[in-house]
Formats: sequence, C-alpha cells, structure tokens
Amino acid sequence: MNSRPLLVTCGLPYTNGPCHLGHLRTYVPADFYVRFMRRKGEEVVFICGSDNHGTPIVVSAEKEGTTPRQISERYHTHFSDTFTKMQVHFDHFGMTDDPTTHARTKHLVSRLIDRGYVYPKIIQQAYCTKCQKFLPDRYLEGICPHCKKPARGDECDQGCGKHLEPGEILEPTCKICGNRAEYREQEHFFFKLSGFQDWLREYLGKLKGTDNAINYALGWVNEDLHDWCITRTLEWGVKFPGHDDLVVYVWVDAPIGYIGFTEEWAAKTGRDWKDCWCGENTRVTHFIGQDITYHHCVFWPAMLHGAGYGTPYAVVASGMLKIDDHKFSKSRGYVVWTNEDYLDQGLPADYLRYYLLSYTSHTKEMNFSWQLFQERINNEVVNNLGNFIYRSLHLSQKQFGGVPEGAVEQEILDRINEAIGQVTGLVEAYDFKGAVDAILVLSAWGNTYIQSKEPWKLAKTDQAAMAQVMRNCLQLAKALTLLIEPVMPERAGLIWSQLGQDSLIANNGFSAGLEPLSPGPLPAPSIVFSKIDDKMTQELDKRLRDRIDALDAEKKPKTPEISIEEFAKVEMKTGKILSAEQVPKSAKLLKLQVSIGDEVRQIVSGIAQFHKPEELVGKDVVVCTNLKPAKIFGIESNGMILAAGDNASLLRPETPVPSGTKIR
Ligand code: MF3
Ligand code: ZN
Repeated sequence: MNSRPLLVTCGLPYTNGPCHLGHLRTYVPADFYVRFMRRKGEEVVFICGSDNHGTPIVVSAEKEGTTPRQISERYHTHFSDTFTKMQVHFDHFGMTDDPTTHARTKHLVSRLIDRGYVYPKIIQQAYCTKCQKFLPDRYLEGICPHCKKPARGDECDQGCGKHLEPGEILEPTCKICGNRAEYREQEHFFFKLSGFQDWLREYLGKLKGTDNAINYALGWVNEDLHDWCITRTLEWGVKFPGHDDLVVYVWVDAPIGYIGFTEEWAAKTGRDWKDCWCGENTRVTHFIGQDITYHHCVFWPAMLHGAGYGTPYAVVASGMLKIDDHKFSKSRGYVVWTNEDYLDQGLPADYLRYYLLSYTSHTKEMNFSWQLFQERINNEVVNNLGNFIYRSLHLSQKQFGGVPEGAVEQEILDRINEAIGQVTGLVEAYDFKGAVDAILVLSAWGNTYIQSKEPWKLAKTDQAAMAQVMRNCLQLAKALTLLIEPVMPERAGLIWSQLGQDSLIANNGFSAGLEPLSPGPLPAPSIVFSKIDDKMTQELDKRLRDRIDALDAEKKPKTPEISIEEFAKVEMKTGKILSAEQVPKSAKLLKLQVSIGDEVRQIVSGIAQFHKPEELVGKDVVVCTNLKPAKIFGIESNGMILAAGDNASLLRPETPVPSGTKIR
C-alpha cells in the first residue's frame, strides 16, 4: 500500500448561484471514482469546498444589499446539502474565505515573492468616476479586443473565450452604474508564469489524467505564456502580503483552498496534510470541468512548483454539458437545477448519477434531455440490471425461500473476476462510461444466462439443476451490486440487504463479489428500480420548455412606445356598413360600403372567412379614416375596419352613437 493517501478534489463551486447539472458532471464522476478506489482497497481523501471570492459575488451582494460573506454562507450550505442528497460525500467541504485558506494563501504567495516570481508593474486600471472605485474583472463590461464581441472585464465570455488582462478590454463600462469607465494608472503585481515554460512542458509530459486536459495545456505551453496579474483592487478576498489595499486574484486563493481544506481535514482526523501536498510524487488528483483546464494545468502547477510545494499527479477534466442539444445557458433557460428540477420532483439521485456517468464518455460533450434520461433509465437500469437482479432474487425466494445449498460454478466466478478486472482497468484510465458499460454487459450476460436455462421450467423437472442456476445468479447479483455501488449507492445498499448482507456495502471490497453467499433464507425481495413513465417525462420536459419560452418572451423586443401626439395622428370614426360583397377570386376579401356620417367610404377588408356579407349589412363598426388609400386586388380601399383577435370580432361602441362620431 501507498503511504500517501490518494487525494481527490473537485473544482470548487462559486457561492453565487445554485447547483445545476453542469456542476454534477464533475462531482458525480469524482464521487464514483472515490467510492470505486475505496472498494479497491485504496485510502482516499475526498476534498472540496466553496469558492467565495471574486468580483461576481461582490456584485451579487451589492445587488441584494447583503455582504459577500453572507451570500457565500448561504450558497455554501446549499451546495453542501445538495451534494449530500446526490450521495456525493466529501471528507471535508470547506470555504476559501475561512482562516485556513487565508493563511495558506499568504504563505504560498509570500514564498513566490521571496523567490522572485512576483514583480510589480504599473498598469491601466478601469476606474468609475461616478462610483469612485476601480473596476476589476466583472465590475467591468466592454468589447473584446480580439473578436470584438461583448465581453467581461477578465474574460471574453460571449465570443472567443480568451482571458483578458486588466486594461485590454475596449469601451470599458461600469457594470454597477453603466457609466463609461476611464483608465487610471495603478501598481499591480504579476506572477512570472513565462518563466515556467520549460518546466511546465516537462511536467505536462508526465501529468496523468485525461487527454482533453493535458493536450490542451501542452498546446498553450508551447505557445507564449503571459505573466498573470495576481492582484485586484477589492475589499473582498485574501489580502496581498504587504498591501492592504489589494487582494489576490480569486484564481490564486481558490486552488490554494484545496490545500487549506486538506489542512482542515487533517486537523479533524489527526493526519498530516503534508503527506498529500509536499515532496515528489504526490497523489493529488483534480477533477474539474474542461473550461478551467488552463488554471489547473498551467497556472496552478507553476504556482505550486514556484512556491516549493508538490505538484498534482493527475487532472481529470469532464467535457461540457448541453441541454436539449443547446449550449448550456442559465440566462436562456437551458439549465437543469439539481434541486428544483430534479430532486424536488421526487427523482432518485441514483438515476441522475447513472445518466451522468454512462451516457457519454467523460471527456466528450454530453447532451441531456428528459427523453434520453427516461430511455436510458428504463432500458438499461430497469430492463437490464434491475430485471436480472429482481428475477434472481424472486425465483430463489419463490422456490427455495432464499439462497439454495451448493457451490457456484467456476465459469461464473471466472466471469465475475474478469469483469472486476476489466472495470477496474477502465476506472483507472478514467473511462467511467466504459466502466459502467462493462458492468451492464455483465448483467446482460446474466439475463441471457437465466433466459437460456429457464429455471422456472426446471422447478418442475429438476430441482437440483434449478438450485445450481439460482446459486450462480445470486452470486452474479452480489458481484453486480458491489460493482454498481459507486454509481448508484442508495439502490445498491437496498439490494445488498435483500441479498441478506448485514454489513454496510461500502465496507466491502470487490473481492466480496467472489465470496459465496451463505445458504439460507432471504427477506422477500422488492422492486428496487422502477421505470420513469411518459407522463413524468412530459411534465419534466414541460417545465424546461416553459422556462425557455418565458425567458425568450422576456427578451423579445416589446412594441415601441408612442407619444400622445403620435397617437393623435390616427383618425378613427364610428360607421355603419351599407353593403358588403365578396371580392371575386379572393377567399379572404370583402368589398364594403361604409357610411361615416356625411360620407360613404369603399373599404376592402380581409374578414370574409369570419363574416358572411349579408350578415354585415347594417352593422355598426369602427373605421380608421385617415389611412392612405390603397388598391387591393385592383379595388380602391379607403380606410380600415377595426377587428379584434383571430376571428375578426368587429369593434363597435358599447352604446349607440351617430355614425361619423370621432373616437377619442
Ligand atoms: N469556482 C471556479 C469555477 O467554478 C472553480 C475553482 S476551482 C479551484 O470555475 F481550483 F480554483 F479551486
Ligand atoms: Zn460606476
């Protein structure tokens, strides 16, 4: 066994909004990996926490009239609770604003300063004269200098995606008050990232993890590396050593939170955090979303190396998430909120975990839709895995009251052994989809086996043969339950008890899958995996669609306002229809003669589908009388009849007035 524990971390969620599926695409696989490695016998420490600093949180706090600390605590609790409900169990879930990470950041940054990796430079900083403050990052909006799309102060979020350094953005505008900002000179501090190019190239050559992270990072490192401005003019954050008017950039203290939280965990458990973070050959494994690869594969290792800490062993990056084939977007409604849209609807955490782990390779872009979700759960989880396990338990119970006597056949044990080896290899290669698929192949094999042996027929003809089949099936079910536990821990726990096991499933290694079940009675099995019905899927989909439509409608330009003077230009009078006839060769048009007091107007009106000519004669109407005359179907039309709605309901005064009366 390794003397260092395997340290697994997840990208820290900002305390600026609720948990959604995009978050879970990283946390669920990380939790799966942790559970799996524990089952394999590894000592694993699973660390995460919330990312409390940065300008967006300050902006939100200002909007809500609260403090960034209060907002952070609220969302911190929200994330912690949501992860628990999703069965994502961290050994410690800290806050970057807590004292440990403040202290660790000071220590690490001071080391970088002492070692000459940090230098001051005067730069142009956006300043709002109205709000009287410097405008770092997201306090600022403007135009991306590279692609000319609207951008945020530190990132071109709607265009080319490039990181923007202070002073780069064009047309800088204050996000708080909308004023055009001006540039003022200010001293800031830079991290000499450019000095780490050769080291990083070598480091990335050895870094483990997924190709999407490592190859991207190598690409960047082989280009030019720019030094990073690591200070900001803000109150909220970790003070930059020696300068009380500056805090460090949020991307400095956030990853240092990984160390801070390990320290907090170590203090709780009497361990030494240095076992995880110091010296050569650490076992630090970061699970992140692919969008923050630069920070984890370039910036962070350089900082750690520069300050004399150990560097991460692996970076595992999950691909991005799409909703209904649309780019994930909270503002456009293409989002699935973990609580509101999923857990609060009564859906089990296990099913979502299954989908996130198995639908698409971990590193590829994943599409989510309720339809796909239903298909996957019903076809794979219920019809394949659930069906095999239930049939095994049910038939054994019915015929033998539980586990029949006798040994499991070697062929079955070999198959289980082989599957455990194969799945382990895939998990160790961070191929989580491959791993889940391989587990499902084993249960599909079980279904084929039970189908071919037809034990329900043997019940009448050959009890001993049936006992052998059921013995084999129950062993397969036991192994499958252990293998699927990291994916669906809640349901696996239920099956585990149905298999007569009174240990906690998580306390067993995979080898338990080869250990025979003791013959004897089992509790009556119940159905653990049930289908998602069409009605549920339609309702879930409707929630999504309604939200998208509502947001869409909000964004549609409203009919522009007009002034009273503009309205006064429209002349409208009451009138009476004197005659009406169909316009030849037109299904929609009627030719009307309308009296408007002392004048008769000929009006062509598109109401033929809703009104019979003979029924119109004598009716009171409202006419727009100063519309420019026009020829419609070659017939002169001089005015317009007002009608409401899809069926052209004709407008008329509530009480009779002489025709020709002006509408005011
Ligand atoms: N809060 C960041 C995000 O959501 C992730 C921070 S990860 C850490 O993009 F490495 F900085 F901790
Ligand atoms: Zn301003």
